[in-house]
Amino acid sequence: MADTISELDKYLESTTKSKALWEDAKNYLPGGDSRNSIFWAPYPIFVDRAQGCHVVDSDGTDRLDFIGTMTTLILGHSPKSVVDVIEQQMDKGMVYNAPSAHQTRLAKLLCDRIPSFDLVRFTNSGTEATLNTIRAARAVTGKSKIAKVEGGYHGSHDQVSVSVRTNPAKSGERTRPDSMPATEGLGEGTLDQVIVVPFNETAIAKQRLEENKDDLAAVIIEPMLGSVGMLPATSEFLTMLREFTTDNGIILIFDEVISYRAAMGGCQEYYGITPDMTSLGKIIGGGFSIGAFGGTKSIMDLYDPSQTGGPRVAHAGTFNANPMTMLAGAATLDELTPEVYQKLEKMTDYLRSEILKVGAELEVPIQVTGLGSLFGIHFTSEELVGYRDIAAEDSAFRHKVFLGLLNEGILMASNLVGAVSTEIGKTEIDTFTAALRRVLERALAPSS
Ligand SMILES: Cc1ncc(COP(=O)(O)O)c(C=O)c1O
Repeated sequence: MADTISELDKYLESTTKSKALWEDAKNYLPGGDSRNSIFWAPYPIFVDRAQGCHVVDSDGTDRLDFIGTMTTLILGHSPKSVVDVIEQQMDKGMVYNAPSAHQTRLAKLLCDRIPSFDLVRFTNSGTEATLNTIRAARAVTGKSKIAKVEGGYHGSHDQVSVSVRTNPAKSGERTRPDSMPATEGLGEGTLDQVIVVPFNETAIAKQRLEENKDDLAAVIIEPMLGSVGMLPATSEFLTMLREFTTDNGIILIFDEVISYRAAMGGCQEYYGITPDMTSLGKIIGGGFSIGAFGGTKSIMDLYDPSQTGGPRVAHAGTFNANPMTMLAGAATLDELTPEVYQKLEKMTDYLRSEILKVGAELEVPIQVTGLGSLFGIHFTSEELVGYRDIAAEDSAFRHKVFLGLLNEGILMASNLVGAVSTEIGKTEIDTFTAALRRVLERALAPSS
């Protein structure tokens, strides 16, 4: 326990201003928080400023950013290309009650890159994007139920707030997970609408899907479980889902809000499997709030307001496709050439191999998952197949490492998932692995 206390003590000592800001925030925000995913115990750092791959907290501590706002900032903080277009737009108005050509430019970039996109629509969050893919699937099929995998995160609306970070001990059999509420307050009947299957267990999942095929409007899946631990699907699993949905007239939705970052055309390009619909968010807004959903023309035409009788599926949003976000997103995608993706992947492969070396030297079981510039650190030698394998990891040890990394000047997500931006090079990666080595040495010290 001594090491936990010392990591915690060090954190408490070095974050006194953040603590004061958190105490003040608690007077007006429940738990001082508006976004549960960036809260961690005992309290989070409060950020003063950020630039490139550096984040400086209110106590003046400069940390290397190895998460980039939950994988959003692929070019780092405030890249010049984005700042320039935003500054130019500031004098021309921030949001209009009519469209601008900026939405067409970002839409074209996405349709050119993403195999499943004939047409796309913009939202302000990934949550709205997945909500719309499911609504469209219901409109197309005339059916209501959806299937998702245990551990898959698709935002915070009711229909997907099922079996996310469940407690395996209370969630039924591994092979036949129960539909578990991810929150209190879900509408009546929500759980009955969602069939939950285990990730990457192809035969078992197929059997469960077959049992429900007549009721399913859609299967929604992250091709790589993102926020839960950067765990890629197997090709076999995704191929099964593609064949099953095609054979049964069910819409296959890839939620690529995080995994789009893995390759220029997203995971669908990486795996060579094209879904019917895709939801996006995060990197495509260049640091501004965004979501997008798209798919085949025949599905997306449901939303066409110019057709006789108006759109079949309603979709509005005051800030949808606002000029700032469209410009920032397009400036970001413009920079993301095939060469940049290759460099990001090379850097992240280097990071992955250096982390493994630290584990081998210190005889700590470590696995590093992820694709492209996304990675997740797991302290286990057990095979990582699906959500339950991640849930079985020692969460107290993970938290100790997370706090230790903060103390060593490294910021990741609190469950040790991360992302490498174009601002991160070999020097920063060597700093990261040296920090991780020190943290693990402290955690393993005999006095602990
Ligand atoms: C895979 C996935 N889908 C949807 C969402 C929801 O996106 P947002 O937070 O923009 O609503 C997230 C957010 O992390 C996500 O990781």
